[in-house]
Amino acid sequence: MSSDLFSPVYIGGSELSNRMAMAPMTRNRAPETIPTELMVTYYAQRAAAGLIITEGAQVSEQGIGYPATPGIHNDAQVQGWKKVTGSVHAHGGHVFCQLWHCGRISHPDYHGGALPVAPSAIRADGQAFTYEGLKDFVTPRALELTEIPGIVEQFRHAATCAMQADFDGVEIHAANGYLLDQFLRDGTNQRNDAYGGSIGNRARLLREVTEAVVDEIGAGKVGVRISPVNAFNDIRDSDPQTLFNHVAGMLGDTGIAYLHTVEVSMTGEPDASVDMAEIRRHFPGIYMANGGYDKTRGNAAIRENRTDMVSFGVPFLSNPDLPRRLRQDAPLNEADQATFYGGDAHGYTDYPALEAS
Ligand code: PHB
Repeated sequence: MSSDLFSPVYIGGSELSNRMAMAPMTRNRAPETIPTELMVTYYAQRAAAGLIITEGAQVSEQGIGYPATPGIHNDAQVQGWKKVTGSVHAHGGHVFCQLWHCGRISHPDYHGGALPVAPSAIRADGQAFTYEGLKDFVTPRALELTEIPGIVEQFRHAATCAMQADFDGVEIHAANGYLLDQFLRDGTNQRNDAYGGSIGNRARLLREVTEAVVDEIGAGKVGVRISPVNAFNDIRDSDPQTLFNHVAGMLGDTGIAYLHTVEVSMTGEPDASVDMAEIRRHFPGIYMANGGYDKTRGNAAIRENRTDMVSFGVPFLSNPDLPRRLRQDAPLNEADQATFYGGDAHGYTDYPALEAS
């Protein structure tokens, strides 16, 4: 029998009950960067996903770029996340923690007035979300060569913290214009050392981060997220197909469990035409597709072997029992944009599940 969204799949030796992942989504409900009881409820409600990937959790104080986002680098955060993972596991789910460093998509307000860091001193067009509202992005400080091992260590340490918090694994966030993506693309990386210039050099930081995390927790517990055509956060590259073919092959060599690809642009038009099938051919592990999928498109993509898994963002946000609803062709709750970022239980844990029947 051929597979579909509702068939099991193995990731790093663990059987997931279906091929639907909950995509990582920033929700800004972690005051003091520590996961709360409300977040425990939110994730536990969504444990029917084959795999939950948490919202981005910053790997260090340096990595923060938004208000009230959780961290995964100190003990208080680990204790908070432990309640999340415990509850998801008690409901039969699997959950990976997304490891995030925002790089230049941040503001001095988060760094005691110091500049955010980036591969090169190139300002993003646009505005940062701060506790005092929107403020223009500043020109970031280019990381010194001697600081790069410290970035790798931030991700390694965060992976250790994620294991202490009983996560099933981690997803390294190399997408959507944040630090690792800033290194990958030639629009934001104009370094002339070993971390800039050629594609191999621009991908070096992601390779070193991935190898460090794999070394720390094992390849079967690691996924990486990329977004080859996303122009979000003022990111661009002159040749994304060649870049991301290389990245996929390089990540394949590390033996990681899955490659999670944002196949669309969050800003509307994709910045280039990239063939996702070509990228996938370079990666031997599980491929997870994201971006505008529904039941029909997801099942077709799995049946035609264009993907192994599909992640759903907004549909999971507003439908805690999304797998059941899709299986039964039940109507979906509509998502309320006004309550996406920040706030309380409203628009977070109060989306209803179907009545038991
Ligand atoms: C956002 O907060 O808007 C956001 C965060 C992480 C992403 C994408 C968007 O990967």
